[in-house]
Amino acid sequence: MSFLIKDLEIKKRVILAPMAGITSFSYRKFMNEFNPGLTYTEMISDFGLIFHNKKTIDMLYSDGSDRPLAIQLFGGSKETILKAIDVLNELNLKYDVLDLNLACPVPKVTKNGSGSSWVTRPDELYDMVRAVVSYSPKPVSAKIRLGYDEVNVDTIAPLLEKAGVSFLAIHARTKKELYSGKPHFESLKNIRDEISIPFCVSGNIYEVNDALEALKITRADAVMVARGGVGNPLLIKNINEALDGNENFEKTNFDKQSELLLKLTDYMLNEKGERQTFLILRSIAPKFYLNLDLPNIKSLRSVLARDITSLDSLKNAINDYKKRELV
Ligand SMILES: Cc1cc2nc3c(=O)[nH]c(=O)nc-3n(C[C@H](O)[C@H](O)[C@H](O)COP(=O)(O)O)c2cc1C
Repeated sequence: MSFLIKDLEIKKRVILAPMAGITSFSYRKFMNEFNPGLTYTEMISDFGLIFHNKKTIDMLYSDGSDRPLAIQLFGGSKETILKAIDVLNELNLKYDVLDLNLACPVPKVTKNGSGSSWVTRPDELYDMVRAVVSYSPKPVSAKIRLGYDEVNVDTIAPLLEKAGVSFLAIHARTKKELYSGKPHFESLKNIRDEISIPFCVSGNIYEVNDALEALKITRADAVMVARGGVGNPLLIKNINEALDGNENFEKTNFDKQSELLLKLTDYMLNEKGERQTFLILRSIAPKFYLNLDLPNIKSLRSVLARDITSLDSLKNAINDYKKRELV
């Protein structure tokens, strides 16, 4: 069952969440092979764009293999966000949706009036979003939380729809709750009746049943895979299967997970070079072996978290474990 973000058809009901430090081009390309309906960039700073910061511009690289793609912007004022859109236009990028980050809880972001702090200024938020919608060449979406300290999604979601947003992603926690504790999907059980635009929900989607449950409670159009998909890309494929009524989920094993990890590594090496790739991979690679019930698998995870600096050292770690524990 597909849905529309304005004129853009989203063909699958699982969406790859934006994650700063993780959802680079190579990660999106890798995950896109498991068929999410939409992928997001990491959050992109308005000032980074305005000052043509190289790191910011590099974060926008895409050859199109990660599409449909939403570029997620964060900024603290209408003026700077509009200027950032000018830079996006100049760069001639391939993307499909412009997303506004109204969800980030990190103090470095909220203290400038960006991210989740926007929802504490509803009049200014409405004015900013209306301006962005009329300025953006692409459909505009927004990512929000249930609220700041208290739940206010029942006011903010309709306000965003009225301002012209075509799609909402809602993380079922407040800003105060950051990323921990159970998400509150039940706080979103009436939102379907309060807005007409499509929306997706986010929070602790680690297994197929988490996704089915979240969709059932909220009647959302889609569900977002974030931390649960790191090291477990088959989650996206299997949620899609379940939504199509199939139950023969693809199971994984040591060799399959190793093959997937090496593929992601290859994509990252092409994008980022060796040093950057292995700095980032040390937090991602161990997750590929998290759900395997294998002897002493923790020892491999700790080597991956500490000692990998090159493709050879990664391959050696995997092969050493296999020789030691699995033959
Ligand atoms: C490391 C990390 C980075 C994140 N970065 C972003 C971001 O750049 N933009 C955003 O809207 N949400 C960001 N999020 C929030 C996720 O998109 C998602 O909504 C949240 O993690 C809840 O889903 P989960 O509990 O399934 O992980 C981030 C989350 C994590 C863990």
